[in-house]
Amino acid sequence: MRNERERHEGIIDVPPERYSECLAVLRSGFATEVADFGITRENTPSNPAFWSDSAVAAVVDRGFELFAVEQDGRIVGCAFAGPSKSRPGVWSLRHLAVDPTTRHAGHGAALVIEGARRARAGGAAVLTIGIVAENTRLSDWYRRLGFESIDKTAYPGLVFTVERLQLALAST
Ligand SMILES: CC(C)(COP(=O)(O)OP(=O)(O)OC[C@H]1O[C@@H](n2cnc3c(N)ncnc32)[C@H](O)[C@@H]1OP(=O)(O)O)[C@@H](O)C(=O)NCCC(=O)NCCS
Repeated sequence: MRNERERHEGIIDVPPERYSECLAVLRSGFATEVADFGITRENTPSNPAFWSDSAVAAVVDRGFELFAVEQDGRIVGCAFAGPSKSRPGVWSLRHLAVDPTTRHAGHGAALVIEGARRARAGGAAVLTIGIVAENTRLSDWYRRLGFESIDKTAYPGLVFTVERLQLALAST
């Protein structure tokens, strides 16, 4: 991954009055993933495809930064990043979604780069992400962006396996 220090063009901090725009992107963005991997509101209510109106603010309240890609005044992708409560030097990137109508234009990669930039600025040595392991297309994409797989875990009750990946952040 490019070792960028500068914020990518089009990346914004999301103010509370625009959380509903992000929620719409998260719901439609994750809808494609749940359809492909047997994820339902019943078996995985925590998936962003099923988030309630207050869910975005709840993640921010837990200490995560919310940032987005804006195109022609419209939010087309967003993600959260923040420090691990239990692991010093580790930040996690969460709930990355790009509107299905604006994919393959590099917005997803721009959001990953922005998450890495924020983690580095926050003093982190690594950025982690947890994904549906069966989504090998997604896993391959993260690898192309410089992530490496740490482990895969099958949790009781989950219909998919969780793969954790991490990106080493340059210190200089
Ligand atoms: C993963 C995701 C954010 C990529 O967004 P994007 O703006 O299309 O990303 P980029 O343009 O930088 O890269 C596109 C690449 O993403 C990869 N990709 C991974 N999952 C994908 C998906 N469900 N649909 C399309 N592309 C996907 C492909 O390799 C694609 O390459 P291609 O354009 O050559 O086909 C977007 O597909 C998405 O929102 N997926 C659903 C939610 C999700 O799985 N989020 C990540 C888990 S935290």
